Amino acid sequence: MVNNSSSHLGNYQSGYKSGDASNFDSSNPGLFARIAEDIHTKGYSINPGALPLSLGDCLLQRINTMGDEQFVHARVGREQLLMKNQFVRKNEICWITGESDAGRDWLQWTSELQLFLNRRLLLGLFSFESHFSHYAVGDFYKRHVDALRSTKLKDSKISKTNRVLSVVVYLNPDWVPENAGELILYKNELDQEGIKVIPGFGTVVVFLSEDFPHEVLVTNRDRYSIAGWFRVNSSTIDRVDPPL
Ligand code: OGA
Ligand code: MN
Repeated sequence: MVNNSSSHLGNYQSGYKSGDASNFDSSNPGLFARIAEDIHTKGYSINPGALPLSLGDCLLQRINTMGDEQFVHARVGREQLLMKNQFVRKNEICWITGESDAGRDWLQWTSELQLFLNRRLLLGLFSFESHFSHYAVGDFYKRHVDALRSTKLKDSKISKTNRVLSVVVYLNPDWVPENAGELILYKNELDQEGIKVIPGFGTVVVFLSEDFPHEVLVTNRDRYSIAGWFRVNSSTIDRVDPPL
């Protein structure tokens, strides 16, 4: 457990203590409950400015101290085969492993969320992976889904990602509409209109990975987010999952 005097928390006056998960949800009463309710009723949840401030500040400080070299060009990972268009995505990422205090606090908060959603919605979320994203001026991520329905993958050689729930948080203070870079969340495959989400500081977006296509519009300003995915365990006798 890290205490308040450690450097990344040096400026905080709040009672927040790093690693003390109980403070996360209580600093925004009802956030986890609201997310659960939204997921249950509509499959997505958009919460402007909802990330506990101390956690957001901590993550922002982490980003500010990370050099550009820690970000690598994003590939389309295990979904690569589904994304034939090489112009789908232009941004850089850094996987969060929990080596920094900020990374540990983030993983603590997401594990609290995982536990809450499993209890409330019986989702059976089993593991979580996430990365920082940096979109430089001109970067974007075209319309995509984070996971394909298993029925669609039945006869395909593409491995299932097991991603069930996507979570995105934004770390951009003072974002104004001219900065563009909005997330557009489409309600289904046919929806062309979508819901516009401004990537302002502390906004927390959660949605069912298979059901909501989405895209990131070209940004006019450096844009930072964290994208993460809760996965279910689909180990079979001859395949251990997640991969070792
Ligand atoms: C992703 C993603 C959205 C965002 O990384 O899969 O959709 O707003 N990110 O950064
Ligand atoms: Mn996505």
